Amino acid sequence: MVGFVSIDALQQALTAQQYIADRPLATAIYLSLKLRKPLLLEGEAGVGKTEVAKVLAHILQGRLIRLQCYEGLDIATAVYEWNYPRQMLYLRAAELEGEGKDQALHDIFGRDFLLRRPLLQALEATADGPPSILLVDELDRADDEFEAFLLEVLSDFQISIPELGTIRAIQPPVVILTSNRTRDIHDALKRRCLYHWIAYPSIEKEIAIVQGRLPGVGERLIQQVVAFVHELRAMDLYKLPGIAETLDWVAALTALDRTALDPETVDDTLGAILKYQDDMEVVRKRGLQTLVEQVS
Ligand SMILES: Nc1ncnc2c1ncn2[C@@H]1O[C@H](COP(=O)(O)OP(=O)(O)OP(=O)(O)O)[C@@H](O)[C@H]1O
Ligand SMILES: [Mg+2]
Repeated sequence: MVGFVSIDALQQALTAQQYIADRPLATAIYLSLKLRKPLLLEGEAGVGKTEVAKVLAHILQGRLIRLQCYEGLDIATAVYEWNYPRQMLYLRAAELEGEGKDQALHDIFGRDFLLRRPLLQALEATADGPPSILLVDELDRADDEFEAFLLEVLSDFQISIPELGTIRAIQPPVVILTSNRTRDIHDALKRRCLYHWIAYPSIEKEIAIVQGRLPGVGERLIQQVVAFVHELRAMDLYKLPGIAETLDWVAALTALDRTALDPETVDDTLGAILKYQDDMEVVRKRGLQTLVEQVS
């Protein structure tokens, strides 16, 4: 049984891995483990969706199996594929040894010739070992057909291979799905899942995240950077900085031996938090001096 005695215990385990989860997120993960229901995490870029699966794999000591979604993702990449070159070699060898054709054709559709892709791998955990953690990352990028197929897999945790039969999970995986909401995930799939929206963190939470991830960095710099990033998130920008950008910026400033923000350094390092020229212009127009004063 995978689970924690309480939400608090889970929250502490996450913190021990430097992942700061507020109570609602910890509750969603707790229930996902307890009810063995997939957890769909949505939120802006860089707010810690993917990291949940990675940290859970650590905590549960299970294997992390990642399926990165993209447009055109198909069954051969996501589930299984026959090892064609190996099949051909086997047929050649069988021919040379005078093995019967029917037997050889039967053999090459056996398990030894199967290339297991992430969804199939996720069904392979044994009953007594740790569970696998299946991360279906950025599901919104996959097409509708793939989503429909995934729905089937998540309903029964089994996959049918015509030549082999049905492969069923002995121990179903812990499933984390993420989406950046470039399109809506269908209701049918959502119904199978628990859902949680990861919002941008509060100032306190983001400070705790940076302290956990980048120990040894001075408090003043962290506070100023986090406050600055929060100012940016309140602005009308094309792409708001996520936690990843906050961490990158603190790392960059530390590499430059800065212990506090000043307008020149902010100007020079703006590319660590803003990735669009237009956004940089907007922020510069607002006045870096004023912004730095505001957060100092
Ligand atoms: N709550 C958190 N505690 C600790 N670190 C965090 C937290 N949230 C995010 N991070 C860190 O921020 C970075 C970005 O997180 P992650 O890649 O999980 O974001 P994401 O939501 O999956 O982004 P994207 O939508 O771009 O894929 C990672 O380095 C992660 O470790
Ligand atoms: Mg991600």
